[in-house]
Amino acid sequence: MAGNWKMNKTREEAMFFSNKLTQDLAGMNFQIVLCPPFVFLQNVAEILTGTKLHLGAQNCYYERSGAFTGEVSPLMLKEIGVEYVIVGHSERRHIFGETDEMINKKVKAILDNGMKPVICVGETKEERERGLTFCVVESQTRQALFGLSKDNVEKVVIAYEPVWAIGTGIVAKPYQAQEVHRFIRKLLEQLYDEELAQKIPILYGGSIKPDNFFGLMIQPDIDGGLVGGASLDDQFIELAKIISWLV
Ligand code: 13P
Repeated sequence: MAGNWKMNKTREEAMFFSNKLTQDLAGMNFQIVLCPPFVFLQNVAEILTGTKLHLGAQNCYYERSGAFTGEVSPLMLKEIGVEYVIVGHSERRHIFGETDEMINKKVKAILDNGMKPVICVGETKEERERGLTFCVVESQTRQALFGLSKDNVEKVVIAYEPVWAIGTGIVAKPYQAQEVHRFIRKLLEQLYDEELAQKIPILYGGSIKPDNFFGLMIQPDIDGGLVGGASLDDQFIELAKIISWLV
């Protein structure tokens, strides 16, 4: 389970909350990743050191260093203890114009620096209404993974985040999410093999809340959640409890 804090919290809030989570989630026996804003990564890293929680970043650039004003390189993230990097989030694609080609470069750069990319894919409302869901998800997944070796693909996490469900309160119905997750799993089987496809975690994201999470988590191809709004407060602890009943 990963919490994407997006552009939220002050430094003090980030430190207080991550400290609380290290205590409240200490007994959980599955991977939990916190993804605070860049400027608080160092503070949160110090709090998470020696605990069971893992650190993630929300984005990065694909070059190692150079004249890229405002960007952060994978090497810089690695240096402060980041293990996961969210890449291709729909907010990055739609607000900041990230292309599939850039996302593929980022995925490779993250892997080259020994971290794990959490690759977000998902269709817009309009694409779903036009019957393009599988087509969009296939194209985004194929392009994000283009040119990766099998060894590297094993380290990837995929997150299906239907754009219409992000921050809207409209969660995908469990069967809707499951059918896309199944589709991604089958695609991974086609691209690689069955064993590898089983190993790659496929998370669901989009308006996850404690009252809808169980129904999603019991789907066979939903391996966890990428949580936005509900990762900012105690709902995150409720969500973790739900997973802990199931693992
Ligand atoms: P919400 O959970 O706020 O809908 O956001 C989901 C998301 O974008 C996680 O990356």
